[in-house]
Amino acid sequence: MSKAKVTPWEVKGVVDYERLIEEFGTNHLTEPLIKKIEKAAKKSHHMLRRKIFFSHRDLEIFLKEHEEGKSVALYTGRGPSGNTHLGHIVPWIFCKYLQDALDIPLYFQITDDEKFLCKDLTLEETNKLAYENALDFIAMGFDPKKTFIFVDTDYAKTMYKIAIKVAKKVTASSAQAVFGFDNSTNIGMYFWPAMQSATCFLPTVHQKKPTRTLIPAAIDQDPYWRIARDVAPKLGYPKTAAIHCTFLPSLLGPEGKMSTSEGSHATIFTTDTPDEVKKKINKYAFSGGKDTLEEHRKHGGNPAIDAAYQWLTFFEEDDKKLKSIRDNYKSGKLLSGELKAILIEKVNAFLKVHQKKRELARKHIDKFILKD
Ligand code: TRP
Repeated sequence: MSKAKVTPWEVKGVVDYERLIEEFGTNHLTEPLIKKIEKAAKKSHHMLRRKIFFSHRDLEIFLKEHEEGKSVALYTGRGPSGNTHLGHIVPWIFCKYLQDALDIPLYFQITDDEKFLCKDLTLEETNKLAYENALDFIAMGFDPKKTFIFVDTDYAKTMYKIAIKVAKKVTASSAQAVFGFDNSTNIGMYFWPAMQSATCFLPTVHQKKPTRTLIPAAIDQDPYWRIARDVAPKLGYPKTAAIHCTFLPSLLGPEGKMSTSEGSHATIFTTDTPDEVKKKINKYAFSGGKDTLEEHRKHGGNPAIDAAYQWLTFFEEDDKKLKSIRDNYKSGKLLSGELKAILIEKVNAFLKVHQKKRELARKHIDKFILKD
């Protein structure tokens, strides 16, 4: 098997998360640490129990400071290159759990500048998408008093001042090594990582006191946190903490992640109709079932490679339900089509509520957006 490729802009191949922990130099999210989060939160979460969040940096320090009543905040973000799909909301579901549980501010960066610089999109397009994507984030039910959303180019006065301090400490050769830039990369991109890293320090500026951030995000974003953690002591900011999740797998099979850039026909967007969801899952979800009914009844399906089952591990919170689905699929009692039907129902039930909240969010968006 060829080596998988994981960068903030590309995820290819079958990802070996154990190897990423080693390669990125992060730490395993161990059982005792999971217990600590659950204790602080007074509640468990299926994404912790199932190791969807599997790695971290300095989480102990973050939890200890929270326990001591020090100022801490959450930070996550979104690159507005298209409509929001289900893969994007995985860390947001977890952010909602953490904000409710820990009662702390949450900062959400929307990078219209990044997607303008790295994609074939105009700035007008990425800026418009930014505000559409914000609706999906607000629809998750965050508290407007504690949730601060900003769009990079519209909050530039504040962000630029932090970002240039970061940029001064990062050489071109380090940006090349960390992000794979070369001589053909535009110079906007060479500067841009400073914007994503700078947001680690925005809560300190905004709250006007040292505020450590914890970033729930997929592991491909970790290179930015490496830079931020490297420059933090030089600039007098607390080092950011991070908690990393795996990617929602592509519906098409165990390689890569769900993404709009590749295979958008098989991507489920938050704005899809129930019929579109049904068609996409039925047509594209990679099956771990056997070729014939007899064989399937006899040998059963393989949940480890079955896209519908894998998706249920992200979206079906009930451990007992999930286990019975797994057992029945493995024994051959549950057919691939029936498994897909379970996922279709789950996704459509979620989207029905989400789409209502998303439209409502249009009226309330101003309560969330940071302006300067
Ligand atoms: N670069 C991210 C993307 O393309 C967007 C982003 C900015 C982000 N800040 C973040 C994602 C913090 C996770 C956490 O999607």
